[in-house]
Amino acid sequence: MRVVILPTPADAARHVTELIAGQLRENPRSVLGLATGGTMEPVYEGLIARHRAGLSFAEVTIFNLDEYVGLGPEHPQSYSHYMRERLFAHVDIAEASCFVPSGRGVPAAAARAYEAEIARRGPVDLQLLGLGENGHIGFNEPGSSLGSRTREKLLSHDTVEANRRFFGPGEAVPETAVTMGIATICEARSIVVLATGARKASAVRAMVEGPVTAMCPASILQMHPRVRVVIDAEAAADL
Ligand code: GLP
Repeated sequence: MRVVILPTPADAARHVTELIAGQLRENPRSVLGLATGGTMEPVYEGLIARHRAGLSFAEVTIFNLDEYVGLGPEHPQSYSHYMRERLFAHVDIAEASCFVPSGRGVPAAAARAYEAEIARRGPVDLQLLGLGENGHIGFNEPGSSLGSRTREKLLSHDTVEANRRFFGPGEAVPETAVTMGIATICEARSIVVLATGARKASAVRAMVEGPVTAMCPASILQMHPRVRVVIDAEAAADL
């Protein structure tokens, strides 16, 4: 695990943008695994700027980590909508090469179909990950099997509460999601974790210095041969 500590969140995001752009320059046909969340927004802004300066996504394939069960792609809080608004619609990627698990229909079937698609087009060359305050990656909450594959996962009470602010008053907040499993994530050739801000400091510490345990799903990344953890000074405060 290589840990890169940079002064500010903007520096950390810029570094991650560079790593992704470098991957695409090295292999324009790369398979990327991407993530959602506020932390990633400056990374996607950076990639759009790179695209305007000539970086092509024409031959790239993208697999996103997760999607809320019950939200279709038109729902503003769906991750499919997030990715379309923040990246896919602004670069030259083919629509048929952008994959987000389906939040509609039978979750087990959506999960099986997603695993099959990754097996067909993968492996993922570079997987980008955010970090939940409770140490989750994708929506693999504490207690997730370290050998898990893409499946429907019950969100923890804290995660549901943290998400409530994004939904309208009285609107139901999704309680489950279809997420790539921990074993699915770990099959990526390389992994980049981006975490910024003081509220991520204890999860960063558990991921980097804690024991490998299902209670901090991100700690399994210690076992992966090519992981870069990119954090700002605040997120590094407990190391
Ligand atoms: C959600 C996503 C994760 C993401 C996390 C952190 O739980 N499923 O993939 O890492 O949010 O989000 P933020 O970057 O907004 O802190």
